[in-house]
Amino acid sequence: MTVTIIGSQLGDEGKGGTVDLYGEGADVVVRYQGGDNAGHTVVVGDETYELSLLPSGVVRGKTCVIGNGCVVNPETLFDELDALRERGLDPDVRVAERAHVIFPYHRRLDGIEEEDKDEEVGTTGRGIGPTYEDKAGRRGIRVGDLLDEEVLRTRLEYVVPQKRAVVEDVFGKECGEELDIDELFETYSGYGERLAEEGMTVNCGDYLQSRIDDGDEVLLEGAQGTLIDIDHGNYPFVTSSNPTAGGACTGTGLGPTEIGQGEIVGIVKGYATRVGSGPLPTELAGVEGDTPGYEGSEAQPLSDAGEREEELATYIRDEGGEYGTVTGRPRRVGWLDLPVLRHATRASGFTGVVVGHIDVLAGLDEVQVGVSYDLDGTEIDTVPPTTEEWGRCSVNYRTFDGWPEVDWDAVASEGYDALPENARDYLEFVESELETPLYAVGVGPGRDQTIVLENPTT
Ligand code: IMP
Repeated sequence: MTVTIIGSQLGDEGKGGTVDLYGEGADVVVRYQGGDNAGHTVVVGDETYELSLLPSGVVRGKTCVIGNGCVVNPETLFDELDALRERGLDPDVRVAERAHVIFPYHRRLDGIEEEDKDEEVGTTGRGIGPTYEDKAGRRGIRVGDLLDEEVLRTRLEYVVPQKRAVVEDVFGKECGEELDIDELFETYSGYGERLAEEGMTVNCGDYLQSRIDDGDEVLLEGAQGTLIDIDHGNYPFVTSSNPTAGGACTGTGLGPTEIGQGEIVGIVKGYATRVGSGPLPTELAGVEGDTPGYEGSEAQPLSDAGEREEELATYIRDEGGEYGTVTGRPRRVGWLDLPVLRHATRASGFTGVVVGHIDVLAGLDEVQVGVSYDLDGTEIDTVPPTTEEWGRCSVNYRTFDGWPEVDWDAVASEGYDALPENARDYLEFVESELETPLYAVGVGPGRDQTIVLENPTT
């Protein structure tokens, strides 16, 4: 049986917490896409673990696999492993030989391209896009290639001169160590040796299928979110992989039937956030039409209402700690957006949803939910296919009475009925609009601060 965890919004929904929670009953936790651009936070008692590449299940001591759909920065891989070992954990991490490797020139090119664009994407700068470009361009170097010095050398000798030409001739910049073949060979064959010594590499699909055949429970951990999926997100303000459920198949080598016979759980944050550029229709921007980086947005002077919005956004941002785990950037904040959630529910076929951060919204007089959009005079209830159309959508809201600040630890231990009534109304509205059962409610970042209604791994 598999359980796939998917971000239903724009990333940063709090997936790490759910993976940690449901991970208790899992034997293997797998990441299937993305790289060290993810920011997964796991809080256990007083300890906080911030992971950008390793699956969150590592904190529970589960076997963790970085699937073939991922892009792997070996430096981050070993740094995160070493840091966990220093904190007394004994991580068991396997890496797919088919996964592609992020090289320093990918990071350099990520930065150069962002600088060069009129409308930057606001990437994490981790070289994610350029690595996936090389994968699709059939010039990538895979984890398995690091294990064979001859193959590694041949591949570097093919690709590095091309990258040098791009840096120098296309962008007019100077090349540094990141494009020195000998330097790269030395460092990356060293990573290959360490991967081999520690016996970390696997044939991912075969490995996972054999664990499933042995009766093990496999948890698949999506990174990022549906609206930044390269196919189903708001292109081009997207990451370069598929966080949606299809990515769980191609990114692991498990078949769609294997994934589809399991559970697919959408993680929802009780409000919207976005890091980076692009539209956010329910944004509490404080500035009319202000969608940074999105063409067509023009900042207008702040009105009283705008100032109130800005205050509200700041309040939610600070209460929810809405600052990027990887980059530290403040996240843009908005109300929950149902068209986004309907789009995500369909694209991944959620069997259940987990709604979190309900505590963050406590204390507000009222809480709004975007229920539909108006696009050029027509009401629509899901996300339109082009980013320009999405940017033109205005939102129809439903207003809920707010709920008070309560002792959330007590609520978490007493269960669902202990939630304030208005919070339950809010949650049940979301559940009925998505026609998908509520599996859990997050009322704080800690392991014990989730009300579990359904645990698919037990
Ligand atoms: P990249 O993945 O670094 O190429 O960045 C592409 C877009 O995805 C940018 O808008 C990033 O801010 C966004 N992004 C990437 N990873 C995350 C994440 O873990 N959470 C939220 N946004 C992300």
